[in-house]
Amino acid sequence: MAKGKRHTATAFVTGGSGGVGKSFTARALAQALGSHGYVTLLVDGNPGQQSQRAFLGVDWSRGIEDVGISGAMASVLRPREVKAAFGFLPGPMAPQDPDLLDRYGDALVRLEGSCDFIIVDSDRLDGTQWDDSDTFAGGLIRPLVEKAGARLVFRVGQSGSQLDDGMAALSAVGLPERTIVAAQCAGGRKPRPDRQWRDMLDGLATYAGTDVWTGESARIVDTGLRGFEPGSEPDWLVRTAVWLGADKSRFRKERKGGLWGRRTR
Ligand SMILES: Nc1ncnc2c1ncn2[C@@H]1O[C@H](COP(=O)(O)OP(=O)(O)OP(=O)(O)O)[C@@H](O)[C@H]1O
Ligand SMILES: [Mg+2]
Repeated sequence: MAKGKRHTATAFVTGGSGGVGKSFTARALAQALGSHGYVTLLVDGNPGQQSQRAFLGVDWSRGIEDVGISGAMASVLRPREVKAAFGFLPGPMAPQDPDLLDRYGDALVRLEGSCDFIIVDSDRLDGTQWDDSDTFAGGLIRPLVEKAGARLVFRVGQSGSQLDDGMAALSAVGLPERTIVAAQCAGGRKPRPDRQWRDMLDGLATYAGTDVWTGESARIVDTGLRGFEPGSEPDWLVRTAVWLGADKSRFRKERKGGLWGRRTR
């Protein structure tokens, strides 16, 4: 690695089904990392949907195509432009572009070394896509995870098809060392015990914990907040950040509240 370059950890947030909170997780994770001092980029890696573009209010005059013209970092919207603790690279202005995978691959490689974390909000995936190099999953995520050290943050629902499809996708990927699962428990349901999750995920992934959807977390989405209040991030999110390489002590509330008095290092 060239001197002065940062080590960049790249994570794709995905899962086996729609609506399990992939985009929420990607944004909340980027916000948590950014607000605790890491230079963090959120990339909208769901070209057909681009829910982050909509959520963050970015118009269609900016897109990943800018990377080829202005350069990678110059194409990233700054934190203050998206009112967040992270920089944002939007998806394509032309989502049908046949060179999309190359554009994404090029952007991710060129951003490497300029930031601490790149969090890519990705679409759901299945085994067929994982084996097909013409898809985002098989042609971009898979080589970056298998050959370039990128990681997967999986959202899996706790019952029905959101569980079955998530488990099937995890089995198809089969990279337990490179995969962490943040389970999702819809509002009003009883969360599945952590012990059960650990058993089910044995040999497939690390278990980060369960995101129990509450009125409070729905409010974060509904009011357009980028994530949790710094220091109040839930355990599943902190564990995910730490698993990706963040320093656990940065997330401790006590430090900010001054419980430790002065910093020892
Ligand atoms: N933490 C949360 N608490 C409560 N509701 C949530 C939470 N996260 C997401 N939701 C609700 O679930 C919906 C889907 O969430 P999100 O867009 O993050 O899922 P997704 O997996 O990215 O979906 P898609 O498959 O469409 O990309 C949101 O619009 C919101 O209404
Ligand atoms: Mg999404």
